[in-house]
Amino acid sequence: MRETVRIELLPLGKALEVGRGAPLQDLLFAHGVEFPCGGRGRCKGCKIKVLSGSLPISDEEKVRLSAAELAEGWRLACRGSAETDLRIDLAQWEATILTDDTVFAFTPQDGLGIAIDLGTTTIVAQLLDLRTGRVLAVRTALNRQAQHGADIMSRVEYAVASHGQAQLERLIRAQIGELVQELLDVSAAQELKHVVLVGNTVMHHLFCGLSVEPLSHYPFEPEHDGLCAFTADQLGWSLAPAASVRFLPCLGGFVGSDILAGILATNLDQSEELAALVDLGTNGEIVVGNRERLLCASTAAGPAFEGARIWMGMRAATGAISEVRMENGGVRCHVLGNGPARGICGSGLVDAVAAALELGWVKPNGRLANGSDFNLAGPVKLSQTDIRELQLAKGAIAAGLEVLLKQWGATKADLSRVYLAGAFGNYINHTSARRIGLLDFSPEKVQPAGNTALLGAKLALFNSQADDAQYRELRRKTRHVSLHEDPEFQQTYVEQMAFPAT
Ligand code: FES
Repeated sequence: MRETVRIELLPLGKALEVGRGAPLQDLLFAHGVEFPCGGRGRCKGCKIKVLSGSLPISDEEKVRLSAAELAEGWRLACRGSAETDLRIDLAQWEATILTDDTVFAFTPQDGLGIAIDLGTTTIVAQLLDLRTGRVLAVRTALNRQAQHGADIMSRVEYAVASHGQAQLERLIRAQIGELVQELLDVSAAQELKHVVLVGNTVMHHLFCGLSVEPLSHYPFEPEHDGLCAFTADQLGWSLAPAASVRFLPCLGGFVGSDILAGILATNLDQSEELAALVDLGTNGEIVVGNRERLLCASTAAGPAFEGARIWMGMRAATGAISEVRMENGGVRCHVLGNGPARGICGSGLVDAVAAALELGWVKPNGRLANGSDFNLAGPVKLSQTDIRELQLAKGAIAAGLEVLLKQWGATKADLSRVYLAGAFGNYINHTSARRIGLLDFSPEKVQPAGNTALLGAKLALFNSQADDAQYRELRRKTRHVSLHEDPEFQQTYVEQMAFPAT
């Protein structure tokens, strides 16, 4: 018997020759497959489709997957190992990662800089010529830590309960070091001067070597969340000795330096008028304020906006329903790649429920009018549980924004602008978002702001001298609000879970 087997990955067109018996989790993570529960067989988020070859069905798969799914070849990647040659379809895992090409004002300096947005799922790094501000190269990657859990709380659980903190730190420092080196290989003509990283509080702690244990329990406040500076030596990277590596400070609780960077990128802290910055994700972050003062909070929205925990949810990849419109008393769906529909992503979900509300298929309380799932396109349907997941997500964001505005002493009408940060905010239809009560603002007030975290990190590359004072001042005028401690939040959350009647 051969000691190796061949694994073909479609539609990537890649073939791997691997040792017989190698766990698929180890092999497939590098090719985009996520393991939301850390490979414990509990979430079915790592579903793959076996096109040929044999992958026996485990007990967990019998529980998590339906008979029809198993018959079609669906398996949990975390349960299987490569015992025979396999052809595996990974189309649902192709990801687009949002970078940034905003033109901004800067003071020219000598040398090169690297700005890094270290996300829970994805990493984006840009190499800049600090004399011209030009982006010389971009690298994107999936965060290698994600094999130990997709969201920040499963990452914290792995670090604390499974004693994995040192391993997560090693993984991310090594991966960022490789990305930095790849970028420098593009342009060795000048010396690297600065590297700036931004990320949420958990990413900040795991990279900086700070314990995430305080983030695992009430009051979920870090012991230290300030600016962390390193030499390349301390990180085990071989860079020019003078290069500085800084991870920008967080704002409190789970509101990290990606949001601080977003404030810098949108100039929220310099604005005369009241404005808001909203990052729609599993952990939704919200900032409200102006040049005088800012309030920020994070709210556990759940993964519905990312298409996760939705029956036929998937990433915004080929085969995902990304837009839904009403047509002739029914719905018409746009499928990414213009092929057959395989699932639905976050923007499609928001559209679908907005259309279903208009058509009377879903009632304002979220109940399905005819009591059963409704069809969208091909095999893709929405279930009562899917609607409930969306209600939880949109309710958490809407309630968080309302509570922050109230604490600020303002109402939604006082907001001059609502900036949407991140990929989902970039693609969501504002009319649909308003229809479901997620962002109840006129469309002209809502402004997709792109990858504000990366833009803020780039601005910080040119600001190394003023950093400490600037961030201290920004942190001084920003107050972190713990929503779970706010007596009004729970009541507001429940109210905001309902959909507007019209
Ligand atoms: S079932 Fe959760 S990662 Fe496989």
